[in-house]
Amino acid sequence: MKFDSHYAKLWERASERIDDLGIYRWIVNIAGIGPKDSVWDRGCGPGRGLLRVCEVSNPNNSLILGTDQNEFLLKSAKDRMEKNGYAVNYQYKPMVSIPSVIEDKFTSEKMEYEYKVFDNSSTELEEGKVNLIGNNYLTSRYEFVKGHEFDKVMFVFIGGYRLQSDFDLVKEILLHSYSYLKDNGIFLYVNREWVTPKTELDEFPQKILKVVKGYELIDYGFEESIENYAAALFPLQNVSDFSQHFRSREVANKYVKYLNSTSFENFVDFLTEVSWNNDLSMGLCFYKFRKV
Ligand SMILES: C[S@@+](CC[C@H](N)C(=O)[O-])C[C@H]1O[C@@H](n2cnc3c(N)ncnc32)[C@H](O)[C@@H]1O
Repeated sequence: MKFDSHYAKLWERASERIDDLGIYRWIVNIAGIGPKDSVWDRGCGPGRGLLRVCEVSNPNNSLILGTDQNEFLLKSAKDRMEKNGYAVNYQYKPMVSIPSVIEDKFTSEKMEYEYKVFDNSSTELEEGKVNLIGNNYLTSRYEFVKGHEFDKVMFVFIGGYRLQSDFDLVKEILLHSYSYLKDNGIFLYVNREWVTPKTELDEFPQKILKVVKGYELIDYGFEESIENYAAALFPLQNVSDFSQHFRSREVANKYVKYLNSTSFENFVDFLTEVSWNNDLSMGLCFYKFRKV
């Protein structure tokens, strides 16, 4: 998904709600983050999850890194950390040859070149600070982290598409994380879901582990809750992108009307009111992999 600036602003709002619901504390708990753990939050967004990580594993004791491709959100994470008294190493270095930005000037050679510049520039991680680093392309390519290993790597997508359509992205990030995890290190993936728990939820890790070697699945689960789901869905206003989540165009249009005119609480009521397919559940799912 292209995380554009409009969506980023909406996400800033949604993640506040997600934090209010206690979901980031839940995630930190599931990841099993302890006081001395080094943690990399891949796609940290506005940093509300990373802030909860820091409450448990203080950057004074351990290496903390948040990466994201969206400058608005990474900057918001920086402000949030500083407001909470943490020193921050912030570096956002946009790459100019992104296809969507300058279509005609893009070549893969130029892209490779820029990656090297990004990775070899002064992108040093600093102990004792919250490191917030990014550029506007896929964080699954970042190599500047070389030489560091983490106890926990998290990919808290939450606002992503459905499980199956995120398959390639999760695969890529899981593969890339391998060299940056300590032995027995944990990779945690969390997403908002609307699933048939007995099929989609169970099949996903098996499919992933067929193509990504070196991990075992140690836990996974599903927190069924309309509030959880609504918090993650709340910012999605573009019906043409997201109508796939609804049974019909009619329901999708109703959804947009609610989004534009009502509060979060009304939105939850709306979700409760519209009749969903009986065999689908809404909530958040998590998958916990261990490097073996
Ligand atoms: C829905 S937000 C969740 C952010 C954060 N984890 C949170 O809970 O607030 C998804 C984040 O993933 C990032 N993202 C989107 N596509 C990505 C990709 N291909 N690789 C890495 N990060 C990506 C976005 O910039 C965005 O901040």
